[in-house]
Amino acid sequence: MDEKLDKVRNILKKYNQEHLLIWYNKLIEQKREELCDQILNINFEYMQQLFNQIKQKKEFKGCEIKPLPYIDKQKISKEEREKLEKIGIEKIKQGKYAVVTMAGGQGTRLGHNGPKGTFELNVGEKTPIFTLLAKTIREAEEKYDATIPWYIMTSRENNRSTVGFFIRHNYFGKGEENVKFFIQNELPMVDTNGKILVDEEGMVKQAADGHGGIFEAMRKNGIIDDMKSRGIEWIFIAGVDNVLAKMVDPLLVGLTISNNHLAAGKSVVKRNPKEKVGIFCRKDNRPSVIEYTEITPDMAEKKNENGELLFGESHILCNLFNIKAIEQIAVKNLPYHSAFKKAKYIDEHGVIVVPEEPNAYKFEAFLFDAFEMLEDMTIMRVKREEEFAPVKNAEGEDSPETAEKLYIEYMKNRK
Ligand code: UD1
Repeated sequence: MDEKLDKVRNILKKYNQEHLLIWYNKLIEQKREELCDQILNINFEYMQQLFNQIKQKKEFKGCEIKPLPYIDKQKISKEEREKLEKIGIEKIKQGKYAVVTMAGGQGTRLGHNGPKGTFELNVGEKTPIFTLLAKTIREAEEKYDATIPWYIMTSRENNRSTVGFFIRHNYFGKGEENVKFFIQNELPMVDTNGKILVDEEGMVKQAADGHGGIFEAMRKNGIIDDMKSRGIEWIFIAGVDNVLAKMVDPLLVGLTISNNHLAAGKSVVKRNPKEKVGIFCRKDNRPSVIEYTEITPDMAEKKNENGELLFGESHILCNLFNIKAIEQIAVKNLPYHSAFKKAKYIDEHGVIVVPEEPNAYKFEAFLFDAFEMLEDMTIMRVKREEEFAPVKNAEGEDSPETAEKLYIEYMKNRK
């Protein structure tokens, strides 16, 4: 241990992060060992690079940004639709289709204590989000007489309670072998001086590294191998928070296959320039999404000749990938975006600080940055009231109240 500790001290000295051992003497032996391992696992050079990038404002100057062509689901003829659906249904029936739910987020905005998927919505009776999602998948399994494996991405923080929830619900009748969990990666949080934070327990303060980490996490956790061993070809990936996500959509699969693309995304018309959604575009001739936190007001407000928002195809985090695309992306690095957050920590005097204002940076990769690695992708515009009922905020827009309404309304009208 002494040797290890010496090694740790040298590294910390080199990178001016010696405060990370501030709580070391108060830790039990096992935690000390853990802390040393955490530190040895940090790529300090990389953390420094990430910190240096924070101040560089994302500018799209010099990039050519154009709208990304899309296909409006409503405008596909009945004949064409049936033909495309048939292609998709065949893949599903052959067991070549899987769903991934990204449930590693903390749901801070919702203020729910526990994994977001366990949050209950009042849709006639109180029903947890995971139960609503499971219902969608189970209905499709029955409809297409197929098994659709379900993979759930969790975080270190919520993995245990998420898995516990599924065990208590008997994996929603899907069989344990068809529901798999994998934990996403984490990165340390840093303060405004580039110092890595110490958490309330004296360990390195880490945070989930965004859902862009999904591809690497799928590779590292053997999920890609598991999919390949089952013969999975098409994978639908969505966030946990959209209770109307149409996770099994043969039309999208058929359309993507017939376009000869390896990925697809669903869009809805952006409600107004300020709506908190990313927008699909073509950046330097590659498909891309510009996030709502990074779009310039100018771009957000721009209209086309029909008076519609020029960049009006909202990304709803409902995307489809071929396994080949996932394998390609999983060995590449996605860029990190930084977010300024409130984070409790132990300061250099050993005092626990509970900040009232944001004080630290969290680094997150976004799944959709992977689109730029593809030459093209299919975008299918769908109706908001049929496929987008996000639960993000405790109240107001995109809250349990709005999602409940949309869900109930959809269920009433769908037959
Ligand atoms: C997200 C999209 C935005 C899109 C909107 C649609 C991002 C960065 N942006 O915004 O383009 O228009 O949804 O509703 O996603 N998650 C993880 N691990 C993480 C972070 C998030 O699994 O480390 C999951 C969350 O559990 C959630 C989903 O990803 O299911 C979305 O994350 P969130 O941070 O809430 O994104 P939004 O800001 O709502």
